[in-house]
Amino acid sequence: MSAITIQRLSKTYPGAQPVHALDDIDLQVRQGEFVALLGPSGCGKSTLLNLIAGFEQPSDGELRVDGKPVAKPGPERGVVFQEAALFPWLNVWDNVVFGPQMAGKPKAEYEAHAHEMLEITGLSQFTKHLPVQLSGGMRQRVGIARVLTLGSQVLLMDEPFGALDAQTRLTMQELLLSVWSRLQKTVVFVTHDIDEAILLADTIYVMSARPGRITTRIDVPIERPRSLELTTSDVFNRLKRDIMRQIRH
Ligand SMILES: Nc1ncnc2c1ncn2[C@@H]1O[C@H](COP(=O)(O)OP(=O)(O)O)[C@@H](O)[C@H]1O
Ligand SMILES: [Mg+2]
Repeated sequence: MSAITIQRLSKTYPGAQPVHALDDIDLQVRQGEFVALLGPSGCGKSTLLNLIAGFEQPSDGELRVDGKPVAKPGPERGVVFQEAALFPWLNVWDNVVFGPQMAGKPKAEYEAHAHEMLEITGLSQFTKHLPVQLSGGMRQRVGIARVLTLGSQVLLMDEPFGALDAQTRLTMQELLLSVWSRLQKTVVFVTHDIDEAILLADTIYVMSARPGRITTRIDVPIERPRSLELTTSDVFNRLKRDIMRQIRH
């Protein structure tokens, strides 16, 4: 069974001037697959992600996660935005365990797991730091550690590294590759950066603007594990050229 199944999905935002944001989207995501949604600003990438997250409802068509129609947000679908919305008055540890604490889980159930997720995201030394004491990249790590601690099997990431400087962005891409290969999560990753999509994804869905449609599905023919050096290889650059051509069409 697919982790995510989307069929003939459309979304129109109502209003005096309705916005037809998505049209006739078909998409299947396998358990453990890394999918990138690639397209220009305004093509409906965030809308699609928000529908999968359950923040928005489709106007038409079908959307299922693990076979069940998505009616509302849930802990099995963790969302990472461009800015990690951390509680500024809580330290890293308290931010990361906030979800399970609020859910009334006993400490024994989440503490060891939270420590492991902080270790995986390179934050073990920073558990007592407040968000204001962290760099942008570190705050994004906390955001990732938080959804991992929630135990979400599906990670929905909306340009999570878009606000970071180029160097930090590369470090975070490497981190995400290692987290993904260790934990086997299903990832839907929104980006407008072709390099980022090729480096990270198994499958890239290229979207066109207004109304957002999927124009091309690309299986990235590059084996894993992948590292940053890959971005200078011939196969990488050929694929990048192909995608650029398709986007211009
Ligand atoms: N809540 C909303 N109400 C009305 N229009 C919206 C809303 N959210 C997004 N839109 C519009 O839908 C289109 C797609 O937006 P979005 O999904 O944010 O695109 P992207 O993430 O690819 O930049 C845009 O034209 C945007 O202005
Ligand atoms: Mg967006």
